[in-house]
Amino acid sequence: MPIAGIQYFVNIKQENTPFPLDNLFADGRNVYLEIGFGRGEFLESLASTFPNSGYLGVEKSLTSVRKLLNRISTAGIENVRVMLADASFLIRRVFKNRSLAGIYMNFPCPWPKQKHAKHRLSKELFINGVSCVLTEGGFFQVITDSQELLEEIASSLSESGCFSEAEIERNPASSIGTKYEKKWKAQQRDIFKLVVSKTRSPEDCETLRGDEMPHAKIPSSRFSPSTLQEATKLPVSFQDFTIVYKSIYCCEEMNEYLVDTVTNENGFEQRFFIKLVKGPQELLIKLFSSGLPFRTEAVKASVMELATRIKDSARNDIR
Ligand SMILES: C[S@@+](CC[C@H](N)C(=O)[O-])C[C@H]1O[C@@H](n2cnc3c(N)ncnc32)[C@H](O)[C@@H]1O
Repeated sequence: MPIAGIQYFVNIKQENTPFPLDNLFADGRNVYLEIGFGRGEFLESLASTFPNSGYLGVEKSLTSVRKLLNRISTAGIENVRVMLADASFLIRRVFKNRSLAGIYMNFPCPWPKQKHAKHRLSKELFINGVSCVLTEGGFFQVITDSQELLEEIASSLSESGCFSEAEIERNPASSIGTKYEKKWKAQQRDIFKLVVSKTRSPEDCETLRGDEMPHAKIPSSRFSPSTLQEATKLPVSFQDFTIVYKSIYCCEEMNEYLVDTVTNENGFEQRFFIKLVKGPQELLIKLFSSGLPFRTEAVKASVMELATRIKDSARNDIR
């Protein structure tokens, strides 16, 4: 049986970048994004109140995505589209510049521990993305119970120089009806609402290009299963990202190997396979075509670094 509301799900792929949000609805209406919609109560209510506007919900949680698809299909709401992804990444690298009329973020995870700070949706990189994807005059609204997170967001917004002065309201009278609003109100916690509008465009954010497919070739003579073991033993750390080669799957009769790989760039994690095919002359190292990741700098580096390490490890073997 098909998933209820699946027609509202947008499967975002690198081939569609920069992703033109003005095409999301046939009539090119204004589009508003909610980041991390959770159970989707807020989006449902907005979309049914304003049927002529377009709404896009982006969530990291598959369960939340399925619940929202079900919710809008049951309610017969047609002006919502849903994506399963890291919203921060889509904003920074995938969505077309100046294509959103507004962004809502309700009770984002505060990630209070310093070691998780890279996940906070408050940092300069994220705010720069917000200023790129909003149209001039577009708004960014945040509701949170975390004063610390709110202050961090306000300070990044002000430093960017692209927004009006933040209006901050403590315990706003109007309700947005989400699970987390109810939870914190029941505990009598203070709630803060911040709204800014975009006053100036920064330099365009660089979206990913759709055509690049990293690969490398090295002489087959440099390769053996033990050089591959050696090459994948340690993680790789660059300034902006890390790469971990987790495990190797091999089909020796076919001379093919898959390396299970994880990259992390400013909190954006991707897991995928690198495929190695050993021919009589050359070893081809490329991304495995099933479950292709976004070809970010870290993903490209994971392929090239593996090739370099195999060569280095073969050189060490000869010595
Ligand atoms: C604390 S919950 C709030 C849910 C809902 N907005 C509410 O008010 O009840 C935060 C939600 O944001 C989602 N989330 C966290 N980081 C995200 C990201 N980078 N992109 C998309 N969703 C994200 C989580 O999966 C979670 O559902």
